[in-house]
Amino acid sequence: MRFLRLSALLIALLTAALAAPAAHAADGITRGALYDDAPDNRYLLGGDWLFRLDTAGVGLTQRFQRETKTDGWQKTIVPRAWNVGDNSIASMTGTVGWYRKDFRLPDKRSRMSWLIRFESVNYRTKVWLNGKPIGRNTGAYLPFVMRLTRSALKRTGVNRLVVRVDNRRLRTDFPPSGLTGSGDPAGGWWNYGGILREVYLQRVDRVDISSLVVRPDLPCATCAATVSMRVTVRNYDRKAGRVSVSGSYGGKRVNLGSKSVPPGSFATFVRRVRVARPRLWSPATPSLYRARFAVRLRGQKVVGYRLRSGIRSIKVVAGRIHLNGRPVNLRGVGLHEDDPATGFAINAARRAQIVAQTKELGATVMRSHYPLHPGIHELADREGLLIWSEIPVYAIKTRVLKRVEVRKLAARELEQNIIANQNHPSIMLWSIGNELSARPGPVQSQYISAAARQAKALDPSRPVGLAVAGYPSAGCRPQYAPLDVIGVNEYFGWYPGPNGQIADRDELSSFLDGIRGCYPNKAIFVSEFGAEANRSGPVEEKGTFEHQRDFVNYHHAVHASKPWLSGSIYWALQEFRVRPNWDGGNPRPNSPIHEKGLLRFDGSKKPAWFDVQRLFGATNQFPAG
Ligand code: GCU
Repeated sequence: MRFLRLSALLIALLTAALAAPAAHAADGITRGALYDDAPDNRYLLGGDWLFRLDTAGVGLTQRFQRETKTDGWQKTIVPRAWNVGDNSIASMTGTVGWYRKDFRLPDKRSRMSWLIRFESVNYRTKVWLNGKPIGRNTGAYLPFVMRLTRSALKRTGVNRLVVRVDNRRLRTDFPPSGLTGSGDPAGGWWNYGGILREVYLQRVDRVDISSLVVRPDLPCATCAATVSMRVTVRNYDRKAGRVSVSGSYGGKRVNLGSKSVPPGSFATFVRRVRVARPRLWSPATPSLYRARFAVRLRGQKVVGYRLRSGIRSIKVVAGRIHLNGRPVNLRGVGLHEDDPATGFAINAARRAQIVAQTKELGATVMRSHYPLHPGIHELADREGLLIWSEIPVYAIKTRVLKRVEVRKLAARELEQNIIANQNHPSIMLWSIGNELSARPGPVQSQYISAAARQAKALDPSRPVGLAVAGYPSAGCRPQYAPLDVIGVNEYFGWYPGPNGQIADRDELSSFLDGIRGCYPNKAIFVSEFGAEANRSGPVEEKGTFEHQRDFVNYHHAVHASKPWLSGSIYWALQEFRVRPNWDGGNPRPNSPIHEKGLLRFDGSKKPAWFDVQRLFGATNQFPAG
């Protein structure tokens, strides 16, 4: 018995030792990322972290950032949202929390520089290393990187990384704070505070990859493709070095050349390859090509990068999205990365579940109000799902959008989303926001044209879109001219809308025709439609399963009767936490849960799930031209 227990212990120790060298295994640091498309110099900063809430706002003056003792800190893991299950107004309004990670470097060699990469922190982040400030960031859902400065970093011994997270929402945040008519905090999804996605150490052996773009261009479905590659490196060393970049695409070798890179400088390597007879990526056949890159310094490999690329074209032609030269009639779902137990700090299993549920429903599009986790993008690439990729410029009031710092942040988020996610074939378009004023004036006009210009400059290969609240009173808006795609959020027959203008669902069909008349050359999507449901009851009563079934059948039939529509997206796949005192148009709501989902928050199916599954399944989403 004793022997057995001992040998089990030995095996466990041996496995741990094999997985990672002992020193950093103790700190929970493991080589590699939670997703595949990444450089090979990342280390997951897992294991035990420390946390303390700072509701009183005393952390800075009491110098939590300099503490070496662990008194007052509790053990936690990362990612972790600190207010999961606290459905109070105070929880939604936000507060301050501090995370701390004590760790030893997994590689002590002095030529290595170290970066830290946060995948998503909500919302304002300040970071210290061993008591010294190393950087700050504003905004969630997008990665940011900081340098672990040499002067602060300990090569041997324990480093203390302290992260102050402030999630008190301001009017100028994405999404913004605000109050509902009854004085409760507004907002389209729960304000989960904390480090919501994982954190990595990035080891830089003198030279690192700062950005990497692999962009296929397919002029026609039967044409050869040209894949452009652009690798930007940065020399972190104190001396200049000869850097060379090589790689392969679908097994074909590519040499991107070599250059001397001065200390502290960037250098860009570009190259195009031709793929004569490409296997095209599409939802039906999500063919992927492996791309690999190696960066060498004076002939020695310092960093590698791998990703999976897909060759396909997405263009708006004659007022319709065309995928690989053929028009589409897509069906999809909107979603949040939410989970009853973890909030937005979802794990890989939950991400896989979201993708599997989307597939099971027969949807080919996913839409969220913010950039999704890299793991979801990767799964979408593999499973053949298209992503409506949006930045959280959500319901921003015109007087707020007018502010220079708000527009700067929006521009930065758009740029970062494109930089972080553009290599994924699943991304169908860049959406610059959701439900800004439905009657845009000069402020929104300026925002739209600047954002569209910026997105095209960064990525000319994808359309640019915006989701708008569907109100007949909005009329035709010339301000939308720079957009390729307009998404219409339509709740006809569900919400009354201003002056009751959308109360009657019979108006939906002519409203959509009107939209088409306004924008004959733009691709039009129904980017949202949905009805809350949490009980059985009469079909005419809002909030019943019967009513939701009737709603989806009616709306889908109207959408299906518009041959010019590029697609329609149900809001939402699954229930999620939205805000205190939410009713969502349901006379018997269950706040703070948003209940338009086809799946309950616990994952079980509502009756309307089966209707949508049947309707999506019966739709030819890729009709012959
Ligand atoms: C909005 C919005 C969603 C929201 C939905 C609703 O227009 O874009 O985030 O959940 O409508 O009211 O249910």
